[in-house]
Amino acid sequence: MSVVSKDIKVNKISESRIDEVDMANIQFGKNYSDHMLVAYYENGAWQQPQIMPYNNLSLSPATTFMHYGQAIFEGIKAYKTADGEPIIFRPRDNWKRMNRSAERMAMPHITEEIFIDGLRELVNLDRNWIPTSEDTSLYIRPFMLAIDEFIGVRPAEKFMFIIITSPAGPYYNKPVSIYVQDQYVRAFPGGIGFTKAAGNYGMSMYPTMKIKEMGYDQILWTDGFEHKYVQEIGTMNVFFVIGDTVVTPPITEDTILAGVTRDSVITLLKEKGITVEERPITIGELQTASHEGRLKEAFGTGTAASIAPIYALTYHDDKMLLPPIETWDVANWLKQELADIRYGRKADTHNWMVTV
Ligand code: COI
Repeated sequence: MSVVSKDIKVNKISESRIDEVDMANIQFGKNYSDHMLVAYYENGAWQQPQIMPYNNLSLSPATTFMHYGQAIFEGIKAYKTADGEPIIFRPRDNWKRMNRSAERMAMPHITEEIFIDGLRELVNLDRNWIPTSEDTSLYIRPFMLAIDEFIGVRPAEKFMFIIITSPAGPYYNKPVSIYVQDQYVRAFPGGIGFTKAAGNYGMSMYPTMKIKEMGYDQILWTDGFEHKYVQEIGTMNVFFVIGDTVVTPPITEDTILAGVTRDSVITLLKEKGITVEERPITIGELQTASHEGRLKEAFGTGTAASIAPIYALTYHDDKMLLPPIETWDVANWLKQELADIRYGRKADTHNWMVTV
């Protein structure tokens, strides 16, 4: 797989749409910046990528991904430092993860030149779209689609890679209430739970709609064999503080997404000397810890949500309330620490931040 030319063609907008956007009240996922990057894969190679004005796509109704879901995506965030310089959080980790998703979904690897250089060029061009107030960022959405005009079922031969960016506020505005799911299943060993395949999110819509009707915000998925071991929450990895130990399910069985925020959280906690265990966690262990007053904190982690505190976990008729969030040590510290690194207020000792 090679790039015909690693240069990126740039076709700029004639007039920015930025004045149409209320940056002071920005929400998640509603507005899109002036430009997007598009690259096509055909005849076994990625063609020259282009940055062009953000626009609708024109595709045949027979396009593969529309029927069979051969589609994957990533989520990344860019911030601005106090001196107004754009910086992107760990994009190479997302690039590598996209290629793991691509492999499992029989899609081509995307090159570093197109993903990373393209992303940097795009963010540089639309740097005015990066909001600067606390809890805001430029959310970056790279995605790949199978675009053969063919409705037989086989891996496609043509693909499209696109990056769009979106000025974004927080994904969750308040702590979340979680329902422990033991009817529907998100992932099995050998499945696609570890990928960011579109279908992983599509399949969650119905169970999520059902629990929202019951007044909960998100699902805590459990394993499909016994509904006993916890996996992920909605669109996030999950962490619990039990006594003085932070626990999170392991990513060893291909059922759980290897979150970049998850990895950052584990790194920061270990450096602070806090014990972190990546191990199977049963819902019974959480119930016992909660009833004995040892379940101190619970939170989700993800690019969009960053650190999302959980105020209650419900399993059948057992509603486990967490202590008041203002009293939490771990999640509140992590949120601040990550924000300080991302907005360039604290030294980036891990080389996580990439300039444009
Ligand atoms: C992310 O956290 O970036 C995600 O991809 C989750 C979501 C918004 C689907």
